[in-house]
Amino acid sequence: MNDLLTIHDLTTEEIEDILTLSAELKEKQKNRQMDCPLIGRTLGMFFEKPSTRTRVSFEVGVYQLGGQAIALPVSDLQIGRGETIADTAKVLSRYIDAIVIRTFEHKIVEEWAEHSAIPVINGLTDLHHPCQALADVFTIKEKKGNIKGLKLIYIGDGNNVAHSLIEICAKTGIDISLACPKGYEPDKKIVKSAIEDANKHGSKIEILSNPQNAAMDADVLYTDVWASMGQEKEHKKRLKIFKDYQLNKKLLKVAKPDALVMHCLPAHRGEEITEDVLEGTNSVIFDQAENRLHTQKAVMVRLMTAS
Ligand code: CP
Ligand code: NVA
Repeated sequence: MNDLLTIHDLTTEEIEDILTLSAELKEKQKNRQMDCPLIGRTLGMFFEKPSTRTRVSFEVGVYQLGGQAIALPVSDLQIGRGETIADTAKVLSRYIDAIVIRTFEHKIVEEWAEHSAIPVINGLTDLHHPCQALADVFTIKEKKGNIKGLKLIYIGDGNNVAHSLIEICAKTGIDISLACPKGYEPDKKIVKSAIEDANKHGSKIEILSNPQNAAMDADVLYTDVWASMGQEKEHKKRLKIFKDYQLNKKLLKVAKPDALVMHCLPAHRGEEITEDVLEGTNSVIFDQAENRLHTQKAVMVRLMTAS
């Protein structure tokens, strides 16, 4: 594991190792036990989109591991004046030990990885959100124990969060059903290669259109915003298209009584999820957000202590 660009790039063993290490690091943090394998190491943070969870959890996480973070806002870098990604990546590789990138097109993060001599971590692109998926499966495991054979349903837009979830479910033996409006299904290529992984791990991937059918007997109900960052202009149009794709009480009723309600956040209450369900007893949304910290610490330990 040299970079973390997509979940697909990880083996099942690497995912399991990260989940195990995350649990150890979480336990240590709860007991205020110091563990500083990243002393003297620096994590660069290059974010071209807003972020609360990813940015703060990486920054806090690297400090807790004994290292430090350095923010690299586009406006302060020569990249803003036309210096290439390739040159920037080569130069930063001489100073810092890893970099988190949040950007638009997925190929931008691939370009960074191609020219960096240090690990590149995808902090979200238009196509993938691997750090989120690791925290999601960690949370499911924490709450349910065994994850193999569970049924997760994802309602809404077949977006970056959905893609990484599909990939991680396929690699960890979770059955995933997605209910998406026509034209907003996940990327066909991502689904095709995830189906190959799912076949190896005995799990199923289904793309449906009716949320009620998908939610039947679900162990986990997951949703995300109807309009992602960069799609603000489509928001009004999407409100109409997605109106029947809401995680609400009615949907929760057809799932198992102890089903987990999950959302990567930020949420738009009253749109993709209702306030009562977000705040209800089935919701593990804020534990899920906390777990971003623990799982990303595990990712940093594995990537930044390898060389
Ligand atoms: N879930 C998530 O990645 O949140 P941020 O956009 O706040 O980082
Ligand atoms: N799909 C959302 C996720 C935010 C964490 C977006 O890309 O805006």
